[in-house]
Amino acid sequence: MDNRPIGVFDSGLGGISTLRQAIKALPNESFLYYGDCINAPYGGKSEAELRVLTHAACAKLVDNGAKALLIACNTTVVAVGDELREAFDVPIVGIKPPVEFASKTPGEGLVLVMATQTTTRLLLERAKSEGRLWPERAVPIPCPGEMVARVERGMFERGDYDDLFHELFAPYAAKAVDAIVLGCTHYPFIQEEVFRYAKENFQGDPLFFDGGMFAVEELKNTLNSKGLQSETGVSSTTFMTSGDYERMKALFDLLLNVHVPMRGIAL
Ligand code: DGL
Repeated sequence: MDNRPIGVFDSGLGGISTLRQAIKALPNESFLYYGDCINAPYGGKSEAELRVLTHAACAKLVDNGAKALLIACNTTVVAVGDELREAFDVPIVGIKPPVEFASKTPGEGLVLVMATQTTTRLLLERAKSEGRLWPERAVPIPCPGEMVARVERGMFERGDYDDLFHELFAPYAAKAVDAIVLGCTHYPFIQEEVFRYAKENFQGDPLFFDGGMFAVEELKNTLNSKGLQSETGVSSTTFMTSGDYERMKALFDLLLNVHVPMRGIAL
């Protein structure tokens, strides 16, 4: 039994989409969230830059008493997740785009894998270097940092992302799309916009997937196997950021509590 909080980390506020799933699955736990908003977006950064930023962020959470870390940033996990696990004594679990899982969606249509430029590049490089077959129907969609930047600015109006979607999705217009992977934790907050665009421009009714439920399941198992579960029956969520605290805290509260309609298997 361990009543210390679980540290949750993302480049910015996107990780709240994973935090929400963790709060639901682990109602007795307390969470300490750190958004490195001043350095977001991470999506176009090199592994060397990410190494420095993410080590500092994890150290901050551990120094503030975190008993385990949930890395709620696909880019970080794909780029330097293994190194972070080696560098810290506390257990670390992280979110990754569930490409293989989503590719099992019934149908012959495409599976669009939306993720940051760094994530898509590394996923493809790793699959190749490890001799793993990339699922044929899975199409990487490297999304610009501007998509994350708009979420960080609190842009959630209808049409706010259409210019970006148009550029990214134009090659797949009128194609059958069975699934869309939201491979960056910021994207679940604009899922309705992606869905609307997909309905208007693709064939079919795509299911949506993100890696949150897998990461949270792993977190739960890790806490149990290491005897780190909290049993106080009281939980809390604390927010920390490298950015403008007042502005980001208001958005943090909104995103933590707002109703986000989710389709597919993501919670
Ligand atoms: N939310 C992060 C992810 O899941 C990073 C987004 C960014 O900062 O570019 O990849």
